[in-house]
Amino acid sequence: MKVLATRRYPGPAFEELGDVEVAPLAARADVEALIVANEPVDADSFPSLRLVANFGVGYDRIGVEELRRRGIVVTNTPGVLDAATADLTWALILATRRRVVEGDRRVRAGEWTGSWADGFLAEELTGSTLGIIGLGRIGQSVARRAVGFDLRVVYTQRRRSEEAGLADYRELEELLAESDIATIHAPLTPETRGLIDARRLGLLHDGACLVNTARGEIVDEEALVAELVSGRIRAGLDVFAHEPHVPEPLLSLPNVVLTPHLGSGTRQTRESMTRIVVDNVLAMERGDELLTPVGA
Ligand code: DGY
Repeated sequence: MKVLATRRYPGPAFEELGDVEVAPLAARADVEALIVANEPVDADSFPSLRLVANFGVGYDRIGVEELRRRGIVVTNTPGVLDAATADLTWALILATRRRVVEGDRRVRAGEWTGSWADGFLAEELTGSTLGIIGLGRIGQSVARRAVGFDLRVVYTQRRRSEEAGLADYRELEELLAESDIATIHAPLTPETRGLIDARRLGLLHDGACLVNTARGEIVDEEALVAELVSGRIRAGLDVFAHEPHVPEPLLSLPNVVLTPHLGSGTRQTRESMTRIVVDNVLAMERGDELLTPVGA
């Protein structure tokens, strides 16, 4: 089976692919399987296409509906990136709440001249309220890690989940008003695009912190930038509406920590993602059932 991959994906599993070519997504009549990282696929350019194996759990940019209509199967990599994404969420929570990056900049700029007792105070994490928007696999991993920090945890979700004991349910508006830290773990769908709009951002209390390791488009980015520029809230952002573009005003703000979509970015996790991608391609080659078809 002729496979086209948009890059050499990490890990030894990639070597198990037989007829694979690493190249950009330009029209090809012979390609039967594509390996992409949530990149848009124009089915007209690949008339022999049978499989799109997505390197990632989110597949919002691929154009799944049209592919499915043409009988092309899409797979993703659920399950293996929950821990890494939850860990990065906590890195952003801690960095933002305890002003770690600001502190680092002060030291490097030679601005740490007085005593440790001279101000530069942050907000305590212990005892604060964490609001989780989307208690799926990643949201649950974030919630489990909250136990060690003695946080009160609330969550919101389209369907109430009975993930016993992890968090108490709130409507989205209630959650935003109540949270010291609100963290987003929902997929990007027509329902979640722009979910956190200007009005809802306004529900966060002064000094609250918004963390997003899901998708930039879930938040009204313009409204978020305005809130951050005003200095009213803080944020830890791993994702943006137009990646890799990051809104210019954010770059100089002390109240936001920025990372370049690193949620799944550990060697172990990315290699596991490649393993699933390759296993799906090999399964299709053998005519076996696919491991992780999307929406099946
Ligand atoms: C995904 O898998 O969708 C992530 O955004 C990659 O980290």
